[in-house]
Amino acid sequence: MKNYYYITTPIYYVNDKPHIGHAYTSIACDVLARFKRLDGYNVKFLTGTDEHGQKVEKAAISQNRTPIEFADEISENFKSLTDLLNLSNDDFIRTTEKRHKVASENIWKKLIDNNHIYLDKYAGWYALKDEAFYSEKEITNGKAPTGADVQWVEEPSYFFDLSTWEEKLLDFYEENPEFISPLSRMNEVKSFVRGGLRDLSVSRTSFQWGIKVPNDNNHIMYVWLDALTNYLSALGYPNTKNLSYVNFWPADLHMVGKDILRFHAVYWPAFLMAAGLPLPKRIFAHGWWTNEGRKISKSDGNIIDPLEIINNYGLDQIRYFLLREVPFGSDGDFSKSALLARINGDLSNDLGNLCQRVISMIYKNCERKIPNKCQNYSDEDKIFIKEFQNLYSKVSIEMNNQSFHQALKMIWNVISNANKFVDLQAPWKLKNTNISRMNDVLWILAESIRTISILIQPFMPSSSNKILNQLSVLEEERTFEFLKPNVFIKSNLIENPSPIFPRITD
Ligand code: MSP
Repeated sequence: MKNYYYITTPIYYVNDKPHIGHAYTSIACDVLARFKRLDGYNVKFLTGTDEHGQKVEKAAISQNRTPIEFADEISENFKSLTDLLNLSNDDFIRTTEKRHKVASENIWKKLIDNNHIYLDKYAGWYALKDEAFYSEKEITNGKAPTGADVQWVEEPSYFFDLSTWEEKLLDFYEENPEFISPLSRMNEVKSFVRGGLRDLSVSRTSFQWGIKVPNDNNHIMYVWLDALTNYLSALGYPNTKNLSYVNFWPADLHMVGKDILRFHAVYWPAFLMAAGLPLPKRIFAHGWWTNEGRKISKSDGNIIDPLEIINNYGLDQIRYFLLREVPFGSDGDFSKSALLARINGDLSNDLGNLCQRVISMIYKNCERKIPNKCQNYSDEDKIFIKEFQNLYSKVSIEMNNQSFHQALKMIWNVISNANKFVDLQAPWKLKNTNISRMNDVLWILAESIRTISILIQPFMPSSSNKILNQLSVLEEERTFEFLKPNVFIKSNLIENPSPIFPRITD
């Protein structure tokens, strides 16, 4: 039986254009989804748009549009982003869809039936930008901890009894130390919960745009309760017999930015426990990007447009840079000089040159054919071969911890050793002195490049395909199954290769 793997991005607000932050979360999920598929898992990778709430309603009104017209248009931009980024998502959920309304209403009813929701009145601070309520002690100089402006809100509201879940949440974190990553974030969440939880307002009456509370149409469901439910709606919930739900819930990983960790690591598990549903296995909170050292903000006009950077530098180059440059979980800086250093150094010089040198030598000197498997190994050969044969298992461990940068570092270490192997063995000299040794050296190198390119497929799907095509590796022989011991590159005919990663000058 196949193993199942369910991974989700946050669903993106439709009040704005897609930017680098959205692209980052989505690419990270795509890389994991692709990795797991190549590893034999049955994967469901979900992304989508978060379309309700006061923030979207306000954005629509400011453009004299109805919220749904507005949401349709911007949601479409996010859908286009999935193509632009070459995402392999299996579904795209919109919270304005019927399937989502049904699921949200059902969750609400479950919370009511289980006596976790009561009617009262909210009086307190609300930050529209975060769609979040804040307590008095969290407000400094009239701002939320996130820097968002807050407004005083007083209105009738339904409440979720969050305060009663403190102990249960803390117990759950203790029993599931892998639930929140990185560890520093787990500690943050624990201390937030230990600091005391207040009941959470889960409905609003001062605007219209959202899912109506069942049996009380004056109230609109709190947008975060509505939004978080998307992870279930996409599995056919409330039909818990639906195969999607059976196979994929609980989710293996909700990927989120650090700013929205509280909603996923505190509110969501509490809602689920209260509704009697299983909790997701893991939540990873990644860091934020700055642009040339400055906070990215619309008002400063320094938003990074994914389309623009992809047109300028190439998609696989950007995907590689985002996941290699910064340890996943930490904040990072997007600078042109760092990007060019990665593209020209890691990609053109290291990987690009290796492929170009080795594959064109094979084309020219081995009758356009990958040489037959090496039979006599020197000690140096054995060391190098062992290194790339061990790569898959080492990389898997890093990937399962979402340590993308470590996984890439390991792969590039092998690339660098492969280049050293070329220099040391100097196959171009062997051509005149020892043809059989030349064939052996080139076979070992071709096999190392096959291993490397199979492993980088999740990160750079189109460039790795080009390399594998140049090596004439069959499409159906590119999964991790083909990295097992005793599977080797085949002695197929090849074409004259052309460079995969051109150098980029500013
Ligand atoms: N709609 C909510 C999520 C609901 S999930 C049930 C939301 N949407 S968002 O569009 O504002 O943000 C989506 C993601 O983009 C978040 O994970 C956030 O961390 C990420 N980023 C926004 N700006 C970012 C950077 N500058 N850098 C990295 N990621 C950032 O929140």
